[in-house]
Amino acid sequence: MLSYQHAFHAGNHADVIKHLCWIGVINSLKKKEKPFTLFDTHAGAGVYDLTDAMSAKNKEYETGISRLTSEGFKVQNAKAALPVLLEDYLALCEPFLADNAYPGSPIISVKAKRESDFLHLMELHPGEFEKLERNIAKIGARNNHVHKRDGYEGLRALTPPKPNRGAILIDPPYERASEYSDVIKGVEQVFKRWQQAQIVVWYPLLSERAGAKHGASEIMCEKLAQLGKPCFKAEICVAENTSDAGMYGSGVFVLNPPWQLDAQLEKALDYVVSRLGSVDEGINARARVSWVIEDN
Ligand SMILES: C[S@@+](CC[C@H](N)C(=O)[O-])C[C@H]1O[C@@H](n2cnc3c(N)ncnc32)[C@H](O)[C@@H]1O
Repeated sequence: MLSYQHAFHAGNHADVIKHLCWIGVINSLKKKEKPFTLFDTHAGAGVYDLTDAMSAKNKEYETGISRLTSEGFKVQNAKAALPVLLEDYLALCEPFLADNAYPGSPIISVKAKRESDFLHLMELHPGEFEKLERNIAKIGARNNHVHKRDGYEGLRALTPPKPNRGAILIDPPYERASEYSDVIKGVEQVFKRWQQAQIVVWYPLLSERAGAKHGASEIMCEKLAQLGKPCFKAEICVAENTSDAGMYGSGVFVLNPPWQLDAQLEKALDYVVSRLGSVDEGINARARVSWVIEDN
């Protein structure tokens, strides 16, 4: 049932857009001194060794994070020219990349939040949970809680949090077609208890080859918009949506987004796609940030 292993995909273009967005949300929450609460419903292992067999199999990071740190783009040398969100993301990743590793969303949260802010990490896979527990213990910072439980059940039990300013990252593997409706139900239930939650949902963009899952992300986004909260989506595509393309891109759907995250993300993603690859390599990367329900 739980067969997904994020190590195969660590640091790919989907991680780049998801983690950029999540850092943007955390940065914005930090503008106020009051503590906040973060939830990560599908946490994964926390850190990925890019030299292990799973990551090394398809080396997906080579067409993701590695493109942003390659020659001529070192953070140290290019700092002045980088969009602020990208600068923060690369600065956070750099010490891990120096060790041939990539930080997952739990470590990104721990590093980006303050000690006084609260973090709840949920992971159901026993092996991934063990690694997560170990990786978080290694950092040893305060107010980080690791839960071996279903992410949606955890949200039901732990929201609204105290303090009730905060955000949720929902990043399921979408292995089963039913996971799209799980997201909608999960978000709907959170808003019944926690109206002001800021929520980031990652989703894949899948071609016809994905069968029943083709078009499911688009329908899920429409249903999330029907919940009536201000929301925008940001997407990166790395290939044309031809019938056999598979996952040709991915996006983040952000509900109750913080002020100016859309503009920050747009600048960062413009930079990202300019680095992701050239048409000669068969990579035609483009990004788009678009409001679905405007924040008035
Ligand atoms: C895409 S990965 C997470 C990656 C991570 N968010 C990151 O960005 O580094 C999805 C994870 O969710 C876990 N998972 C699947 N179903 C779950 C559920 N119902 N509750 C909690 N975790 C679940 C999987 O074992 C997998 O580790």
